[in-house]
Amino acid sequence: MKLYDRLFTSPVGAKMLMAVTGLMLTGFVLAHLAGNMLVFAGAEKFNAYAAGLHALGGLLWVARIGLLGAFALHVFLAVKLTSENKAARPVKYAHEATIQASFASRHMFHTGLLMAAFVAFHLAHYTFKLTDPSFGDLPAGDVYAMVVAGFSSPVVSAFYVLAMLALSLHLCHGVSSVFQSLGLYHGNLNPITDKLGPIVATIVFIGFSSIPLAVLAGIVK
Ligand code: HEM
Repeated sequence: MKLYDRLFTSPVGAKMLMAVTGLMLTGFVLAHLAGNMLVFAGAEKFNAYAAGLHALGGLLWVARIGLLGAFALHVFLAVKLTSENKAARPVKYAHEATIQASFASRHMFHTGLLMAAFVAFHLAHYTFKLTDPSFGDLPAGDVYAMVVAGFSSPVVSAFYVLAMLALSLHLCHGVSSVFQSLGLYHGNLNPITDKLGPIVATIVFIGFSSIPLAVLAGIVK
């Protein structure tokens, strides 16, 4: 079997690729969260961090292209696996056999769709600065002021918190499933891997949501 067939046309290969690209995206999310927490250290530290990232130049572009590739592959495989699953069972069971399946696992496609919509909005918001005219009045490179101005809108902040809920539900099931998809789900590893998803999900939800909430509460200003 050719490598392409093994990875893309066999469900096991596709699931392994989903797991690897999912891990890459989770790595980015955790690194982005750690960097964003510097907002609580004040404008100077946060802006210095953002400037440091931009100064990486070519290296930053390599990371961006890798991230975009992982995201595109993850979405492509999600659509492919979901449509194949539907085609294999066109008529729903009279009694859904999902009593054991959690809410998070049943809604991976929906929370994933919400994340894709969130990332599109987020890039338009903070990277391309297309959605908020007030950003035009801010000094160049003042990413701190941009974040504060962005989250001063309760509607924008509410959307971010909702998206973080979808992201954490997605990670809750996704992170724990990685081990199964990669064939690492053995014996006494289960109790640890089962808890890893909920732990990562909780950190991501509390961490990211704390930023818009802190801005609205006037703690970050
Ligand atoms: C409260 C939550 C978040 C805040 C405050 C935040 C903040 C930012 C800021 C300020 C930028 C632009 C940085 C710059 O150009 O200097 C950015 C870029 C980005 N963010 Fe976020 N972010 C948040 C959550 C997320 C989440 C949950 C994801 C992914 C699921 C994400 C994905 C990205 C991506 C892909 C970029 C573009 C990176 C690049 O240009 O290289 N962000 N974020």
